[in-house]
Amino acid sequence: MDLVQKIKTVAKEKNALILAHNYQNPEIQDIADRTGDSLELARIATRNDADIIVFCGVHFMAESAAILNPEKKVLLPDISAGCPMADMARPEQVLAMKQKHPGAAVVSYINSSAAVKAVSDVICTSANAVKIVQKIDADTIIFVPDRNLGSYVQRFTDKKIILWNGYCPTHENFTPEQLELVKEKNPGAFVMVHPECRPAIIDMADAVMSTGEMVTFVKNTDRKKIIVGTEIGMIHKLKTVAPDLDYIPASDSFICADMKKITLQKLHDSLEHGKDVVTVDPRTSDRARKALEKMLELS
Ligand code: 13P
Ligand code: SF4
Repeated sequence: MDLVQKIKTVAKEKNALILAHNYQNPEIQDIADRTGDSLELARIATRNDADIIVFCGVHFMAESAAILNPEKKVLLPDISAGCPMADMARPEQVLAMKQKHPGAAVVSYINSSAAVKAVSDVICTSANAVKIVQKIDADTIIFVPDRNLGSYVQRFTDKKIILWNGYCPTHENFTPEQLELVKEKNPGAFVMVHPECRPAIIDMADAVMSTGEMVTFVKNTDRKKIIVGTEIGMIHKLKTVAPDLDYIPASDSFICADMKKITLQKLHDSLEHGKDVVTVDPRTSDRARKALEKMLELS
């Protein structure tokens, strides 16, 4: 049996659901039961009858699935797959910030640790950040940890947003000069970018979207040539849903090394040996769940 068949067989035997983020390697996206953006995957994690969830993504995503499903086993095929941006905020720093700004609500991006989620009022993803900030009952928001997503949200609200100084290195490394160059080479192409990009990039784009929103967009657009301003794995996903469009990577170095750590072999071993299990201590999990559930309720 080849590896793909072996994975399918063992997943069936164990009643395991394979979820993959849109940035995963193409072969992982292809074998997954479901692919999606952070919001879609969080929702799917709450609505399934699998015994095991294998999360092909990074640690905070598997952790969110574990928090939302305390009775299920959640596996991450490479436990070292983390998110450098999530590591830029620690709970004690968030608590200190809260003390400095009494009355402010803490809105944390899903790209944060369970411990940070546990001291947050509500979680958001790139797909619902604007809506969550508008709906949360507070005029001042401490937005953790992505300064770029936070400043993007500020464009849509009069609420005061206090920005955390975190960022995604993968998106931050993409420069306006690079975008200018790719636009020059592809005149007339539609430019879509992720809100984790720098503000100067946002200003140059035709549309700013979460990865899930990009999928919806290409299914419905009559534009033919699209510059994709996010992690390179996205292009595979877009080709599966709208294969006739011409996708141009905004930069060939737009790669999240952590997202690429999951391989078919690691996925197979994870399922076969039930490793590595992602767990969150019950106290942290209960608090973080409230913030995640608040997001699902508001979005
Ligand atoms: P979305 O897929 O939710 O847009 O998020 C992108 C991301 O950077 C996940 O790490
Ligand atoms: Fe984290 Fe950026 Fe990788 Fe997403 S793309 S997982 S935000 S480092």
